[in-house]
Amino acid sequence: MKILFFAGALRKDSCNKKFVREAMRLVEAKDGHQTEFLDLKYYPMLPYDGDIESASGVPETTVKLGAKIREADALIVSTPEYNGSIPGILKNVIDWLSREKQVSLTGKPLLLLGASPGALGAVRSLWHTRQPFEVLGVHVFPGMMGLSNAYNAFDEQGRLKEEKTTQQLQKLIDQFLDYLK
Ligand SMILES: Cc1cc2nc3c(=O)[nH]c(=O)nc-3n(C[C@H](O)[C@H](O)[C@H](O)COP(=O)(O)O)c2cc1C
Repeated sequence: MKILFFAGALRKDSCNKKFVREAMRLVEAKDGHQTEFLDLKYYPMLPYDGDIESASGVPETTVKLGAKIREADALIVSTPEYNGSIPGILKNVIDWLSREKQVSLTGKPLLLLGASPGALGAVRSLWHTRQPFEVLGVHVFPGMMGLSNAYNAFDEQGRLKEEKTTQQLQKLIDQFLDYLK
């Protein structure tokens, strides 16, 4: 299985990048999976604009990202929560991808994670982020995990500090990998 990991966040110290990298580390501890982390900072896309699309098609970065997604058997994505919902950066990426004809998201399995410094752990964003993916036919795994208090959750190496949090993530990943079989 080829699994692609990314966060719906750009900043270098992003807790969602850390969280999805921890998910990747746990997947890599299992045999038989190829993994790749992808940083959306290096796939910049202007806000969706139909005039840009009419004049020059989808951005080159969308085509490149689409190719990565097309090659992947499954996706694991960690999303921040902005104003109780999906962050614009991630929604914009989804919108552009939906216009890229060479990539079909239909049937692509997706595990959704979220992280926030607050007490709710991006849980509202998780539910809102499911929706556009599901509209595009993505098979969003029923289980999700929101990480609360995320600024204090990682050590200097970016590893989750709490064993019980690692175990919770491990359990969800095991369920997702079983589902992929
Ligand atoms: C515009 C904006 C809106 C935000 N709204 C929320 C929110 O509704 N809920 C929440 O838990 N955190 C909210 N936050 C705080 C983010 O969770 C925090 O910036 C987090 O670090 C973003 O994820 P990242 O670390 O992966 O970049 C907001 C941050 C910004 C910049």
